[in-house]
Amino acid sequence: MSDITTERSGNILRVTINRPAKKNAMTSAMYNALADVINDAAKDDEVSVVIWDAAGDSFSAGNDVQDFLKNPPGPGESPQARLGNAFLNFDKPLIAAVQGAAVGGGTTLLTYCDFVYAGESAKFQLPFVNLGLVPEFGSSWSLPARSGYIRAAELFLLGEPFNAQHAAEVGLVTRVVPESELILTATQTAQKLATKPIGALRATKRLIRQSQRAQIEQAAKIETEEFATRVRSAEVKEVFTAFMEKRKPDFNKIKATAATT
Ligand code: COA
Repeated sequence: MSDITTERSGNILRVTINRPAKKNAMTSAMYNALADVINDAAKDDEVSVVIWDAAGDSFSAGNDVQDFLKNPPGPGESPQARLGNAFLNFDKPLIAAVQGAAVGGGTTLLTYCDFVYAGESAKFQLPFVNLGLVPEFGSSWSLPARSGYIRAAELFLLGEPFNAQHAAEVGLVTRVVPESELILTATQTAQKLATKPIGALRATKRLIRQSQRAQIEQAAKIETEEFATRVRSAEVKEVFTAFMEKRKPDFNKIKATAATT
């Protein structure tokens, strides 16, 4: 069974992250597969709308930590950048249905969606600083643009989890719905959109996104360069190794190494 699955019903394509045992953490292969699905959907005249959801009790735990250590993204092309570009160029409606944990990329990638429905269980987090990292997918621009600087600073700098209601207040979520109505709500919106003239839908999405496009691209570019450096740092290696060894990171170890080298 693939980690990214698709199912088409009429003009609605449903793409599902399907790695529930690992809380839908995203590997390089999964970023590439999702980018391919989105790029193909953009070209496919049979697809008018995409619903993006996830199997199991979580939406996504963000980057797969193990894969990140093995294949850290560089400053240029990377599977993450490919997916960001695929979403940025996608001019058909994109609807996300989010339940449970949405961590790191599980939150920042939502900024590319046009509708985000969150179940009451949804818990978001931007833990980049805690991991020794920086924001990605243009979110260092797009979140402050939506929520105002002061609220974005709290979420990025403290990196604490926040609930679906707060996610709606900061402009990451369209509507919070009971868990049992999550996919139904996303599907009803997709069905409404699928009856509309697709040319006008696509042109309108391009128009309402065009004022943000350059800023998102520019932010993503600078973030990627910073991220590429930080992901190779001793701090990040310690955080991720600790995660895999199910212990707390010990930054004194790094200081001790730095003092003796
Ligand atoms: N990368 C790789 N594996 C991950 C993962 C990630 N980002 N997130 C979770 N997993 C794995 C766990 O290692 C565990 O695997 P195991 O069963 O083989 O031990 C499994 O998924 C279940 O995770 P667990 O932590 O036991 O579930 P939980 O319900 O207690 O917590 C999360 C869920 C998402 C809150 C927690 O797993 C978490 O914080 N993950 C890291 C998120 C993160 O920092 N992402 C950003 C990376 S840049």
